[in-house]
Amino acid sequence: MALTVFILRLAVLILVLPLYLLNFLGLWSWICKKCFPYFLVRFSEMYNKRMASKKRELFSNLRDFAGPSGKLSLLELGCGTGANFKFYPPGCMVTCVDPNPNFEKFLIKSIAENRHLQFERFVVAAGENMHQVADNSMDAVVCTLVLCSVESQERILQEVCRVLRPRKMSSDNQWSADEDEGQLSRLIRKSRDSPFVPVGIAGFMAVVSYGLYTLKSRRDQKMSIHLIHMRVAAQGFVVGAVTLGVLYSMYKDHIRPRLFNVPKK
Ligand SMILES: C[S@@+](CC[C@H](N)C(=O)[O-])C[C@H]1O[C@@H](n2cnc3c(N)ncnc32)[C@H](O)[C@@H]1O
Repeated sequence: MALTVFILRLAVLILVLPLYLLNFLGLWSWICKKCFPYFLVRFSEMYNKRMASKKRELFSNLRDFAGPSGKLSLLELGCGTGANFKFYPPGCMVTCVDPNPNFEKFLIKSIAENRHLQFERFVVAAGENMHQVADNSMDAVVCTLVLCSVESQERILQEVCRVLRPRKMSSDNQWSADEDEGQLSRLIRKSRDSPFVPVGIAGFMAVVSYGLYTLKSRRDQKMSIHLIHMRVAAQGFVVGAVTLGVLYSMYKDHIRPRLFNVPKK
């Protein structure tokens, strides 16, 4: 008996040895990522046929989540091949997140087949850290057949809460966009996210105002030369602010998280 067990174990070991080797060489994950989309596209076809009515029912109220503009911004987390696209309402603006870049080709095909949608972008990221998606920017997040195989469901749900626009339950039990956020607080939030935009606008206004203020006291300088100086200074300020903004975003999104191991925003 012991000999049989030994032989069987040896046989299993020999059979899985190539997988061990591929894993050791770091190739196994690469192969899986390459092949999985081909498997998923076939699987989704069968799965959608069986689940069509359930999916239709599940996604039937997505429209109710549209933002104040009437448009629905939807994030599909772990989008795979885009098998859910056909169940989304017309005009829906879809952002896709998936850690596997090999899905892009399949997504493009799904987008072409679902002209009723407005495709926004494909973000290659794991749901645990999708910092490329801005805070409070989505009306709905869809995630099917994903949470069972992720590293941290908790972190994903935290990220989902971060990207979802705040909503409140109205008296008739309907979720509506949280309108508590007035124009001013929205402006403050956007300014906090991209501080160099208001700085650039303020600088531009300040330079132009100063230029106009000193127009009369320009002495013997030609008016056209004065205006050119003013324009160059104002443009220079805006270009400087935009450049600083880009550098700041790169630092915030890519350098700071690596240096200080802080979650990306
Ligand atoms: C079984 S497929 C489901 C695809 C699609 N949601 C569907 O219902 O057809 C799982 C998907 O989740 C993605 N995925 C795996 N880990 C993930 C993670 N940590 N965050 C987001 N997506 C992930 C995979 O790349 C794959 O596309």
